[in-house]
Amino acid sequence: MGRRVDSNVESDIAGLLSEDGTWISRRLFFDPDLYEIEKERVFGRSWLMVGHDSQIPNPGDFFTSFMGEQSVIVVRDNEGKIRVHLNTCPHRGMPVCREDRGNARTFYCVYHGWNFARDGELVGVPNQRATYPRDFDKSDLGLIAVPRVETYCGLIFANHDAGATSLDDYLGDLRWYLDTSLNRQPEGIEVLGVQRWRVGTNWKVPAENMVGDVAHAPATHSSVFLINPADPDPGGALKSVLEYGHNVALPGGHGGTFRVYPKDDADGRLPGEAALRAAPGVGEYLESVQARAEERLGEVRKHVKIATCIAFPNLFLLGSNFTFRVAHPRGPMKSELWSWVFVDREAPQEVKDAQRKFFTLTFGAGGLLEQDDGENWEGVTTGAAHIAASEHPFHYGAGLEAGPHPELPGTVSVAYSEHTQRNLYRHWHNLMLKP
Ligand code: FES
Ligand SMILES: [Fe+2]
Repeated sequence: MGRRVDSNVESDIAGLLSEDGTWISRRLFFDPDLYEIEKERVFGRSWLMVGHDSQIPNPGDFFTSFMGEQSVIVVRDNEGKIRVHLNTCPHRGMPVCREDRGNARTFYCVYHGWNFARDGELVGVPNQRATYPRDFDKSDLGLIAVPRVETYCGLIFANHDAGATSLDDYLGDLRWYLDTSLNRQPEGIEVLGVQRWRVGTNWKVPAENMVGDVAHAPATHSSVFLINPADPDPGGALKSVLEYGHNVALPGGHGGTFRVYPKDDADGRLPGEAALRAAPGVGEYLESVQARAEERLGEVRKHVKIATCIAFPNLFLLGSNFTFRVAHPRGPMKSELWSWVFVDREAPQEVKDAQRKFFTLTFGAGGLLEQDDGENWEGVTTGAAHIAASEHPFHYGAGLEAGPHPELPGTVSVAYSEHTQRNLYRHWHNLMLKP
């Protein structure tokens, strides 16, 4: 059942974006009314990433995660199927799982002791015979299932909308790009863990950063690039952004910034990987992967690397830093970032260790680049709410030249562009306009 929304707020939504998406209201980034509507119209209808199947390899393995603000239990049932249950007891609403992860035979509600099987079925009610009729029907009182659960490259997505399009169709051509990080090896990926922290920002601020805000890199991160002692070419990372970067907008609000390395670049390395490659065994491993990548991905994709991209609304993937993350909304001006580190399943342990350290150094909770970004995201959110500036929308007019590309799917521009951000907000706007 949809929320009743004041007709003034409905007409306000129509005016939040200019027709071409070049001007966007500051209200998107702090307004509590819009935030409440987003919960249903954006998070209630989109495929949301909740975790990775390598976190729950065995029956009974579970972890808790979030869909928007709502806690969910992700569990592998006795048949090996992944289920996503709302973490709220059907009796009075108590969260039935209060652990981050583990293995459970059943989920036991600590309030009145109702007990639920891995598939959600209500299997135990204390004193049932004494308190309920003989024909008491428990079949409607199981954990509430999220109706749609599908995976891509092991990433588990769930959707509250039973009639939603399939995950494959939802991701569309984004899969072509995701494969360059997640599907480079036949054995696939596994995650080593998740880091979580809160930032005082609206969730859309990191989303628009990750969908292709290349322009911030020299201003925001240059100090990190310059002090990197392991990088023999400290300016190289920025040069490669300009030389090889492409920003790609895709239907459904997805998009990202991708680097396409020249075909004669044998290993397609990123300059920022210098620190990683200095670790024993890593350079050889990355080169061996690259040598086999053509067979699996084809000649073009062998040379494509994800810098950052998003699956709308709030899944972000940083391919070269071995992490995907979700910005869970925690209020109009607060987000909780969950950041998973991923590695090739079959990589040698020393390579996995080096990748985990590289992630931690760059985009972990205390990572050098993460600190730079978080500072900006908080600043943007508080600055957007400056009351005397409310009549001054933000300008997203960079990179109006975007179009088809002979090799890359989507609408493609040079790296310094805001067309992926306009695409993201136009999709958000379309969802917000539909009650
Ligand atoms: S709230 Fe869970 S058993 Fe009552
Ligand atoms: Fe950044």
